[in-house]
Amino acid sequence: GSPPSIPTDLLAWYDRHARSLPWRVGPKERARGIRPDPYRVWLSEIMLQQTTVAAVKPYFDRFTALWPDVTALAASPRDDVMKAWAGLGYYSRARNLHACAGIVARDHGGRFPTTVDGLKALPGIGDYTAAAIAAIAHDEPAPVVDGNIERVIARLFAIETPMPQGKKDIRARQADLTPRQRAGDYAQAMMDLGAAICTPKRPACVLCPLTSECVARARGEQERFPVKPPK
Ligand code: ADE
Repeated sequence: GSPPSIPTDLLAWYDRHARSLPWRVGPKERARGIRPDPYRVWLSEIMLQQTTVAAVKPYFDRFTALWPDVTALAASPRDDVMKAWAGLGYYSRARNLHACAGIVARDHGGRFPTTVDGLKALPGIGDYTAAAIAAIAHDEPAPVVDGNIERVIARLFAIETPMPQGKKDIRARQADLTPRQRAGDYAQAMMDLGAAICTPKRPACVLCPLTSECVARARGEQERFPVKPPK
């Protein structure tokens, strides 16, 4: 269909199939007015930057038990945070995490900025993480693009520009698609679709809520996208 039906169809699917994750406020709770805690959204997004959902879960539970809010995390010695991070890898994330907690606690009264630019000014928060936090925690219609979402969008629009140049087109498409309402649910629905259905190999198109809207699928070429760089 026409552009607005992609977010509408995706959100209807998410209402039925959202994964239950420890840092997530599900669509039913969200509809009852329960808001995500920006601290938990930030912590989960930093952990998920280079680590799988399965590996992150126990660390997320331990961190939030030890440090229920950003002020508690900032007040702890950095070495305690580094110890709790041990095993997750990419240790600069833990150093930035502690530095960021300090800035939010001291300079922002313990509240995370709500805008993409405000978030990007903090250590460890780049384009992806700033957009994800703004969308998920604050429902800002920021275009969220991670590896899974890149693949979903490359297929929906059969984007022929090879990666990494294709990222620019993909981002523009995502900016167009992102709804003004429920931007956080929309971003997380895209993530879930990429993780569970629109997989790199043998995507489960028969289960996909966007199958009738997918140009790559209509051509039977879904596995060709995103197009790899020429050798
Ligand atoms: N990967 C990165 N952020 C995520 C989120 N909020 N939900 C599921 N997977 C993710």
